[in-house]
Amino acid sequence: MSITKESELLGMKKISDVVGTTLKLMREYTKIGMSTKELDEYGGNLLKNYGAKSAPYETYGFPGYSCISVNQEAAHGIPSEKKILKEGDLINIDVSAELNGFWSDNGGSFVLGKDINKHQPLVDASKNILHKAISNIKRGVKIADIGYLIETEAKKYGFKVIQNLAGHGVGRSLHEEPENILNYRVRTNRERFKKNTTVAIETFISTKSTIAVELNDGWTLIGNKGGYVTQHEQTILITNEKAIILTESNGMWD
Ligand code: CO
Ligand code: CO
Repeated sequence: MSITKESELLGMKKISDVVGTTLKLMREYTKIGMSTKELDEYGGNLLKNYGAKSAPYETYGFPGYSCISVNQEAAHGIPSEKKILKEGDLINIDVSAELNGFWSDNGGSFVLGKDINKHQPLVDASKNILHKAISNIKRGVKIADIGYLIETEAKKYGFKVIQNLAGHGVGRSLHEEPENILNYRVRTNRERFKKNTTVAIETFISTKSTIAVELNDGWTLIGNKGGYVTQHEQTILITNEKAIILTESNGMWD
């Protein structure tokens, strides 16, 4: 959305703080032996206590309050009593919600307990690449150039990007213009980031796959060639200088 007055900025700051804090608390609450359903209920209660509504649940009828994707699940994992978390699991939690008509979105991947499956390099790459991408975003920067940066950085780390998952505008709804802030360059896309707009920037860094495909549960996405995918996402406000990270309460880079 385009921020035109103080009240809109305050609205975006408030919901961003809520989703950021919820993500951080959910990450800290995650324990070996816990089901992803239990983790989701914890997050759902946090949102409720803030007076916020889960975006995927409200908007898309998603069977959960947050998306919790484990190991080979790339995104949109469904919280389940049957999914019990183990040491070394690669976990992604994505929290998006609405409060007073404002929407915000953030997510992050992490390794549970000891990194016995050696996922940390993939996690760190995604986290670092998101930081670098956001550091380069200001008014007038081409969306395609940020895609190029993400793609190039992923290659440097020896990884790939998922091409059909993307960042997006956010604010008055979960997904709005610009609709596809891709993790690679589309040369024909001349669109530029605009001052005072709010967007969700998200990485999708992968070991093998380049396309995310849906399982027949209608939600869960996995890589077309297997392997693992990590995602980190922040909602930001674009300015003439450095972008303001609205969801920084998630403590992603602390
Ligand atoms: Co998003
Ligand atoms: Co998200």
